[in-house]
Amino acid sequence: MRVSVIGSGYVGLVTGMGFVKIGNKVVFVDVDERKIQMINNAKPPIYEEGLEELMKKFKDKYYATKNYREAILNSDATFICVGTPSREDGSIDLTYIKEASKEIGKALKEKEDYHVVIVKSTVLPETTEKVVKPNIEKYSGKKAFEDFGLAMNPEFLREGVALRDFLNPDRIVIGVKDEKTKEVLEKLYEPIDAPKLIVDIKTAEMIKYASNAFLATKISFANEIGNICKKLGIDSWKVFEGVGLDHRISPYFFRTGIGWGGSCFPKDVRALIRKAEELGEDPIILKAVMEVNERQPLKMIELLKKHVPELKGKTVGVLGLAFKPNTDDVRETRAYIIIKKLLEEGAHVIAYDPKAMENFKRFYPDVGEKIEYAGSAEEVLEKSGVILIVTEWDEFEKLDYSGKIVIDGRRIWAAEKTARIYEGVCW
Ligand code: UDX
Repeated sequence: MRVSVIGSGYVGLVTGMGFVKIGNKVVFVDVDERKIQMINNAKPPIYEEGLEELMKKFKDKYYATKNYREAILNSDATFICVGTPSREDGSIDLTYIKEASKEIGKALKEKEDYHVVIVKSTVLPETTEKVVKPNIEKYSGKKAFEDFGLAMNPEFLREGVALRDFLNPDRIVIGVKDEKTKEVLEKLYEPIDAPKLIVDIKTAEMIKYASNAFLATKISFANEIGNICKKLGIDSWKVFEGVGLDHRISPYFFRTGIGWGGSCFPKDVRALIRKAEELGEDPIILKAVMEVNERQPLKMIELLKKHVPELKGKTVGVLGLAFKPNTDDVRETRAYIIIKKLLEEGAHVIAYDPKAMENFKRFYPDVGEKIEYAGSAEEVLEKSGVILIVTEWDEFEKLDYSGKIVIDGRRIWAAEKTARIYEGVCW
């Protein structure tokens, strides 16, 4: 099939290249000239495991353009993969969704055959039918489910292993209304061996939010229990090993520590809270899930102060800035909250991250420009006797922490074994 993908960020690029890998031709649409050029030169504008190899291998099966019309007219299905960022108040910003639907509508005006539009961006229930549908109809003069197809198909990709997740998902959720659209999506996903759940459009939208909110809840819950364990001298990782053996619970997503960041969990939980409130509900669990997550990184500073009560003028080493390992993404990283607090306390911070230093500096200039960046993890250890481990990059396992005071937010076994003083956040 010929697929067009609107928005070549993490989701768009991975989804598009995933479709290439399973035998389709893909055209990416983006407004960013730099991204277009990079994609056309088979260079991924983001770091994602396996992506560059795939782009090189299938160079003639995809290209990128600025031109919506050309992309849509030359494809059978269009995936909307644009960002849905948070506004100041936590509600969801639909600017890019509206723009994409308008451009799709304009292009569909000229199209004869049944074109299927699929929303992959994370959008709150009813958005596809109340925002995307009327926009496409308005600009195309056509009717959804009669003249063109419309579907919602959420993604469950984890950054760092996103391609693997695309090709080997736990499930594929397809939200549709008309038979023709359903057939197109089933055909597209046919090569992927996974349960396919066919639901209506707003159910598909809600599955995405409920999944992310549940995973975020699972971690915040584990961290709350972990804080109690810490006070009692219990290792919460062992506790959750025991808890996770119950097949009703599952052992995954129980790694206690300093909490969750990234482009999805915080944004989606916030948006769901706002939506619930709009509907007159008081989502107390979701609010507590957020609150635990905001407090959790500060546990590191509390523990640090047990050993170094006065931080003013002290050099503190920070290992890891990315919101998790194997990515250069710093969105909602716990490192920001921690470093901000260290600077407020008057400490000098020297940080290292294998991939995310530039992004950190650019994304958080208020703290990013006030800290020193090291050329390697070893340099951080050379220059500081106090180390905070914020992201669990593999290479931090190979360091010699002897003689150091280490506060570990992510459980690096090498540090646990060799540091002079070692404190884990929840163990
Ligand atoms: C997440 C979802 O997993 C994915 O399905 C969705 O599509 C997008 O959001 P991602 O943000 O890439 O993916 O990262 P993920 O690996 O889920 O980790 C999110 C955060 O939770 C990270 O900051 C990670 O450090 C933290 N985490 C994860 C924990 O603190 N403990 C855990 O047990 C697991």
